[in-house]
Amino acid sequence: MTVQTSLDTIRERALAELGTAADLATARDWERRFLGAKGELTAFLRGLGALPAEERPAAGRAANTLKQELSAAYAARETALAAADLDRRLAEDAVDVTLPGRQPAVGSTHPVTQMIAELSDIFALMGFQTVFGPEVETAHYNFDLLNIPSDHPARDVWDTFVLDTDEAEIVLRTHTSPMQARTMEQRQPPVRVVVPGRCYRYEAQDASHEWMFHQLEGLAVDERITMADLKGVLRELARQLFGPERRVRFRCDFFPFVEPGVDFAVDCAICGGKGCRVCKQTGWLEMGGAGMVHPKVLQGVGYDPERYTGFAFGLGVERMLMMRDGVGDVRAFAGNDLRFLRQFARAQV
Ligand code: PHE
Repeated sequence: MTVQTSLDTIRERALAELGTAADLATARDWERRFLGAKGELTAFLRGLGALPAEERPAAGRAANTLKQELSAAYAARETALAAADLDRRLAEDAVDVTLPGRQPAVGSTHPVTQMIAELSDIFALMGFQTVFGPEVETAHYNFDLLNIPSDHPARDVWDTFVLDTDEAEIVLRTHTSPMQARTMEQRQPPVRVVVPGRCYRYEAQDASHEWMFHQLEGLAVDERITMADLKGVLRELARQLFGPERRVRFRCDFFPFVEPGVDFAVDCAICGGKGCRVCKQTGWLEMGGAGMVHPKVLQGVGYDPERYTGFAFGLGVERMLMMRDGVGDVRAFAGNDLRFLRQFARAQV
């Protein structure tokens, strides 16, 4: 076989193989096999020494010519494949801007938060300012200033979480009433505030008892405030929340910090007072406790009970929602079940 023939077979094979290389990796492998340090053409050039001296220059030239041809062919092929590769990756990464976007999961305010906002708005129209107080309280505010001394059996009415400390007796507030005293200590009459917030009681939980729940306290103190003002305010609240037809009922009840004390109820909006499952056939739904601020409470914060009178009330916030929206179990509110909470979802403002 002549030198030219063997070069021709290498050429033929090399170009055919390069022509079928479909990607950059195959093309690079091809370059290694034919043009690399251990490639076929390099091996051929090394073998030239074995030829008779007069044949060497021609064979060397022919081999170099082939090497240039193959190198040029490789460069062209590599450029083409690299361009194709780039096109492919760009196509893969392409974003279809016409696709509809993914809906972000937007949260909503909690139903209790919504109810507190609604109650604040209703009371603001009647001149009440919304204020907030501490959830961790001293027994002094939670009990003593509310006319519940430590030896008074009424302390047992509230199943209290007591914090383990050597200092003053610290409790998780059992109601929002401590803010009555805190507010009166800080300002002079006329006072008109509502106090929404969490309360805690050491309770056995059931469908109507939670160890954590929300109240909204109300307090108005001024000269000549009477029970008629209390009734008017709570009646207006019931009408705003449950509809213009609603009637309210006041019955005697006992709370050490009011005298007289009442519990108040609204006639059931579901059955119009005839009696149904929601109102347990009574026709009435209990909203909370209320009464005229006890003279001892006024005295305790330095108000003159001869000059000032006032009323106070406490509403259960979850209870308002249960009545109005027909929620059967108070545990749903802190239960973190999104299927429940989504029913109260509203557009954010
Ligand atoms: N704090 C009382 C309770 O939690 C409710 C109440 C508030 C009663 C204000 C009278 C006046 O039971």
